[in-house]
Amino acid sequence: MLLTGQAVPFAATIDPAFRHDIIEGLSRSPKATPPIWFYDRRGSELFEAITDLPEYYPTRTETALLTAHGADFAAAIGTGRAVVEFGAGSARKTPHLLRAIAPAAYVPIDISGDFLHASSAELAQGFPDLPVLPVVGDFNGPLTLPAAIEGMPRLGFFPGSTIGNMEPDAAVDLLRAMRRLLGDDAQLLIGMDRIKDRDRLIAAYDDAQGVTAAFNLNLIERINRELEGDLPIEDFAHRAVWNDGKARIEMHLEARRPLHFHVAGQCFHMAAGETIHTESSHKYGARDERLLLRAGGWEPATEWVDAEGLFALVLAKAG
Ligand code: AVJ
Repeated sequence: MLLTGQAVPFAATIDPAFRHDIIEGLSRSPKATPPIWFYDRRGSELFEAITDLPEYYPTRTETALLTAHGADFAAAIGTGRAVVEFGAGSARKTPHLLRAIAPAAYVPIDISGDFLHASSAELAQGFPDLPVLPVVGDFNGPLTLPAAIEGMPRLGFFPGSTIGNMEPDAAVDLLRAMRRLLGDDAQLLIGMDRIKDRDRLIAAYDDAQGVTAAFNLNLIERINRELEGDLPIEDFAHRAVWNDGKARIEMHLEARRPLHFHVAGQCFHMAAGETIHTESSHKYGARDERLLLRAGGWEPATEWVDAEGLFALVLAKAG
């Protein structure tokens, strides 16, 4: 379903899951909303723009690792696996991996069907002999893999430090679900963002051009458009905060003055300086990475880290 006009003309166009998550998140104290709702069409475009920013090191660092270590991946992973990518999105990094390990099939999983089918078609063009079998679905819920990959050993691919969006307990649950889904002889190649200099982390989430601010504020525009909201966007400020105790960057939308607004017919208030916590991006030390993987049922085997120690790609085997 694609929404085009300014206002939502019919209640039938409201996504009940979106409404539920936003109403519930704004009713809590402190207010907090799940980051999955950033990614409407505009949000996905803004995220792609973030990955090109000079301050946003994760994407280019991980891509450089994938490009540089193809021979290592071939040796450690081998050929003939079914690669299952969780949250494939534009799958821009995937060709480097696929070229290195010559898999038997590629299964990109993404919640956004339009985006997934477009990027799968593009990828398939570059790999004419590779079966590309997209699965539309939320990897945080139950998933079924295509019958065509039955019996093939699997490699889970979870790049981008997407795992960092999850609280540690949810991250462990997800790793365990992946372990169950992928089977006993599976491997997992996962990107994890390292703990580093505080200023560098904050700059990556509060860039000079304001692209990350626009990405965060786009959630308000989406709420207004899709949930009959009247949040005054100019009265919200983007904030990126390093929470040292929890080793995570938090993004917030801060009320610049006392606010009173509506979403889907319900009233909400915010005091000046109060925030909506819109995203957490957890960062890991080398030992944190290994502990998290082992807690999730995966035994770390090899890791690749850039010279500055910014970002790690970890290969683990089903434990
Ligand atoms: C897609 C979740 C990995 O946490 O770095 C980028 C999202 N948010 N800038 C991240 C994001 C703000 C990104 N992940």
